[in-house]
Amino acid sequence: MRGIILAGGSGSRLHPITMATSKQLLPVYDKPMIFYPIQTLVDAGVEEILLVTGGNSAGEFLRLIGNGEEFGLKHMNYTYQKTEGGIADALALARHFVGRDKVVVVLGDNFVQGSIRKAVQDFEAQPEGAKIFLKEVADPREFGVAVLEGDRVTRIIEKPKDPPTNLAVIGIYMYDNSVFDICDTLEPSARGELEITDVNNAYIQRGTMTYEILDGWWADCGSFEALLRSNLLVARERGVRV
Ligand code: DAU
Repeated sequence: MRGIILAGGSGSRLHPITMATSKQLLPVYDKPMIFYPIQTLVDAGVEEILLVTGGNSAGEFLRLIGNGEEFGLKHMNYTYQKTEGGIADALALARHFVGRDKVVVVLGDNFVQGSIRKAVQDFEAQPEGAKIFLKEVADPREFGVAVLEGDRVTRIIEKPKDPPTNLAVIGIYMYDNSVFDICDTLEPSARGELEITDVNNAYIQRGTMTYEILDGWWADCGSFEALLRSNLLVARERGVRV
């Protein structure tokens, strides 16, 4: 299983703090944000990792992470997304790295409290398709939102104004190798991006999408409120009274 961390994009929702650096280099309590998704993959037993960067601070990731010695890794792989073409556009850059393998994709501004190791092992054993994590949230309008029928996901709607459920799709996705053929078929959305939700809906239409409800908290750092909340979650986890 290969791992991809997506840390391109402009972080425009966090201007002006992301005008001088990447969102994923900002602090979350006592570490740079990007350390958390790397740790999530390493804890899940994934050690072949490709980091997709972009924007003006790409070189800073190299300086910070190097070959991942801090995480016990022997090597870290990097690539560069020239334009902000969307999450699926960034993922498509990993085709050469994944080869015939399966892949876990983690958004560079997402991380979780618990381990995803068991889910990764379950997906290794899944003959084909994809697997996502869902989490109940108070206000799902900022996320991909899943519709369920029995034990199947029947549809994901990206940032719905009127969400049909409160089940957000979190930014950790597992795919078989056909994900790159799906990326080739995508058209830009209304916001001009290749959407990961379109990738997930393609697997749903094939009938090969599975899901798991995530235990423990999930941190997304895409907005000021979410970034603040993530800092507090991590600090409290470490026993700090804030
Ligand atoms: O946080 C989970 C949500 O992430 C999901 O529920 C949504 O379905 C999914 O679309 C995504 O929504 P966002 O609008 O929050 O994604 P955002 O544009 O903030 O991008 C998330 C990460 O993906 C970002 O930290 C870096 C990476 N990215 C994003 C873009 C647009 C890239 O590497 N390249 C890109 O072009």
